[in-house]
Amino acid sequence: MVENLDDGSRHLFKVTFNNKAPKSLTGVNWKIYFFSFFIVESKHILSKDGLYTKPEGYTLPNVNLKVMHENGCLYSMTPTTGFKELPQNGTREITFYAANWAVSKTDIPPNWYITADGLNARVIDSTKEGFVGEFTSAKQWKRKKEDKYDPYSPMSRYQRYKTTNTNVQMKMVIPTPKEITNLDISKLLNITGKVTIVHSGLDNEASFLTDKYSFDSSTTASTNGVNIYLSINNTILSAEGYSLTVNPSAKTVTIYGKTNAGVLYGVQSLLSLLSHGLSIPQMEIRDEPRFEFRGMFIDVARNFISKTVLEKLMDSMAMYKLNKLHLHLADDEGWRIEINGLPELTQVGSKRCHSNTEDVCLIPQLGSGPDTTTSGSGFYSIQEYKDILSYAKKRHIEVIPEIDTPGHARAAIIAMEARYRKFSNTNNMEAEKYRLIDPDNESKFLSVQYFKDNAVNPCIESTYVFIEKVVSELKGMHTDAGHPLNIYHFGGDEVAKTAWVNSTKCDQLNLNFSGDAASIRNELKNYFTKRVANITFTHGLNMAGWEDGFNAGDGMPFHISMYQNQHIYSNAWDNVWEWGEARRAYNYANAGYKVIMSHATHLYFDHPYEPDPEERGLYWAPRFTDSYKSFRFLPDNLYENIDVTRMGVPLSKSEVCGANDKKCPALQKPENIAGMQGHLWSETVLSEDNFYYMIFPRLLALAERAWHKASWENVADKTKRTMDMDNDWDSFALTLGTKELNRLDSIGINYRVPPPGGSLDGDEIKPNTAFPGLSVEYSTDSQTWKSGTIPYTGSPVYLRTKSADGKRTSRVVQFSPITSSAQLIQMSITTVILCSVLLYIFLLKD
Ligand SMILES: *[C@@H]1O[C@H](CO)[C@@H](O)[C@H](O)[C@H]1NC(C)=O
Ligand SMILES: *[C@@H]1O[C@H](CO)[C@@H](O)[C@H](O)[C@H]1NC(C)=O
Ligand SMILES: *[C@@H]1O[C@H](CO)[C@@H](O)[C@H](O)[C@H]1NC(C)=O
Ligand SMILES: *[C@@H]1O[C@H](CO)[C@@H](O)[C@H](O)[C@H]1NC(C)=O
Ligand SMILES: *[C@@H]1O[C@H](CO)[C@@H](O)[C@H](O)[C@H]1NC(C)=O
Ligand SMILES: *[C@@H]1O[C@H](CO)[C@@H](O)[C@H](O)[C@H]1NC(C)=O
Repeated sequence: MVENLDDGSRHLFKVTFNNKAPKSLTGVNWKIYFFSFFIVESKHILSKDGLYTKPEGYTLPNVNLKVMHENGCLYSMTPTTGFKELPQNGTREITFYAANWAVSKTDIPPNWYITADGLNARVIDSTKEGFVGEFTSAKQWKRKKEDKYDPYSPMSRYQRYKTTNTNVQMKMVIPTPKEITNLDISKLLNITGKVTIVHSGLDNEASFLTDKYSFDSSTTASTNGVNIYLSINNTILSAEGYSLTVNPSAKTVTIYGKTNAGVLYGVQSLLSLLSHGLSIPQMEIRDEPRFEFRGMFIDVARNFISKTVLEKLMDSMAMYKLNKLHLHLADDEGWRIEINGLPELTQVGSKRCHSNTEDVCLIPQLGSGPDTTTSGSGFYSIQEYKDILSYAKKRHIEVIPEIDTPGHARAAIIAMEARYRKFSNTNNMEAEKYRLIDPDNESKFLSVQYFKDNAVNPCIESTYVFIEKVVSELKGMHTDAGHPLNIYHFGGDEVAKTAWVNSTKCDQLNLNFSGDAASIRNELKNYFTKRVANITFTHGLNMAGWEDGFNAGDGMPFHISMYQNQHIYSNAWDNVWEWGEARRAYNYANAGYKVIMSHATHLYFDHPYEPDPEERGLYWAPRFTDSYKSFRFLPDNLYENIDVTRMGVPLSKSEVCGANDKKCPALQKPENIAGMQGHLWSETVLSEDNFYYMIFPRLLALAERAWHKASWENVADKTKRTMDMDNDWDSFALTLGTKELNRLDSIGINYRVPPPGGSLDGDEIKPNTAFPGLSVEYSTDSQTWKSGTIPYTGSPVYLRTKSADGKRTSRVVQFSPITSSAQLIQMSITTVILCSVLLYIFLLKD
């Protein structure tokens, strides 16, 4: 990545080809495929209305290579006549532009591949990993002039991590319980020796204790040893509430829950206490969740993740009392769930490989290479999906399946076209049955991720036959697994404006729409949601969708009375402050939708942890989101979260909301805020390690806010609120560093270990970490690592943080004493003050 242009419209790449083959490369018969998140162009091949104006591609000057946009983020380059042969050991540099910017190494996906007639497609080995050059200048890591972000240095990180709080208390349990009373840490109960769990009919909840400790399980209390009582108790009022009483003199622990879920949460709190040591103090916890909906969203479509990994995720969700798993099972890049009777969905739609016809797989995307061996391919069989559902049920987690339509549906469209071709010669009715497009349409479009053909047609009946089939198969799998389907998520987001403007089938519907492309699309979306809602209603389900799926324009949703379902849920996500759509969350709640706070500025875990090119992730909303940012999200006070623009320029509430908060409607129906959710979109999540890295430890901050409303959240004075919040964060961070991260290590979750901060103190570097308790190592050659006092002599010192269990380390950072311009300014101010003081003394003397 060479540079981003100042106006933010383009960035420049340079690729060096080095021919290491034993013969020269001539300009015949080959094609190199590669990936880019932004459209590759000579100048601008996109017109303002998003139409694709140069489908024939263009030829790079000087090198005689033609670049073509294939589809989505897949591009190719082929030699044209005049291509100069590349001799053995020869190198050739080419440069090209792509739209917008790139400020992270993960913006350039791996696994470029080469094809030639009659040969198998092969990955170019050097692009498998580590092929993106270093980002060493601001032109590379800033998107445009006004971009305020520079990568952190150990010194700036030190400032972010440090606290002036000298008496930071560890939290007993995360998420913080509503109330802990009667606490006496001098009275301890040892949960050792003979321990009996006394309960009837709560085997599932008890098993979370017996899986870990060798406790007995019985319906009657034991006369010696410790008794842990579990029981359902109607004096607990909240559906998922519980009480937990530790009574050292009676040698009992008593957990009451209103429901089995409540009992499980009590058990989880006990497990949390025990993880710190088997002697636990006298206390009484009364606890209940702040929100009924505490979710985690996982996109398994862009990149697939195995059932085993999802199970580990659910283990941790239960630990931290999250109760909804929203699974994004289908998108443009993949279909991930076996559907009985529609084998093409998984035979074709779950695989990505090099293909000209897409009869056996989808074309590669997002660095998935030419074959099906990467995370671009994979699906859950019916049995595996049922296993996931059973596993979730035990943890009182509700699975919400999402099949994204009518946009983001390319995998389904291609699979159903393959099915169409299979039957079209023999049985035309069967062939047409589940078709998702109208082949006669003339609409040209590009989706936001540059797909030309990812919108199902809402004006043909077979679309609804398909959705009906998928919904009823999903429902059947849920019923079989004893985990009834409650909410069907239809997606609904990001339909390209011009997807249907020239569809004759849509004209024939006579919906009497008129106006520009956007209003036609909105009319058709309205019709589509009504039809899908009808299908889900017929199956006794509620429906959910991303907020733009219900957008009628001007920040308002379609009228809720259009839908017969008991509840319509909507994820409010698109809140980049300066875009002015944060209002949708409250508008929708006021209009009767159940809103899930999904705000991209604070709850999108596909975004990087730091504004650093080395950190994985997309950054279309904020440049970065760390655990601290998710922790301080105020779900009950949305506009108080307004902080900075995408470029990091400070933004005030009045700038966004205007006079009298005109652009920021108030929440009139707080009961319609169902809860909040963290999100992992998976464009850059290429492995299990990437998956854990992006989710953890941010998930703990999400759980803290979703379960617990902190007292500081309602403090009106911002300075006071920030102070209280920072104190609370200090406890939270200490608890992670000394307890929770260890628990994650013990279940094999490789959370991100944050790099350390460092401050120069005489001839020593004082390190600190985001989560006090983690240790820091240093090195002078980045080969041998030591712990202890870190001497500084002026030569480079490398630092890294160790994971809680000491088995992994953070990325390595280099310490140099002066790095940021802010610090330079600080120094010169100090110098000016010093000089003034000296001058003053000097003058006095005179
Ligand atoms: C290319 O490099 C290899 C390895 O360095 C060498 O053996 C070979 O002779 C070189 N070939 C040419 C044509 O320079
Ligand atoms: C609990 O265990 C600790 C050490 O494990 C011991 O010192 C203490 O006496 C025990 N307390 C009781 C009440 O048994
Ligand atoms: C339910 O809880 C109340 C209050 O703690 C207690 O008095 C009662 O005995 C409990 N009932 C059962 C059945 O455990
Ligand atoms: C329009 O037709 C083209 C070509 O068959 C297809 O790729 C595209 O998905 C269709 N779009 C719709 C909305 O039917
Ligand atoms: C729709 O058709 C008209 C007439 O052929 C054409 O000019 C226009 O570009 C088409 N629009 C789209 C979005 O395909
Ligand atoms: C929804 O279903 C009802 C009957 O179940 C029907 O009357 C109505 O027309 C349907 N609406 C749409 C948009 O299909």
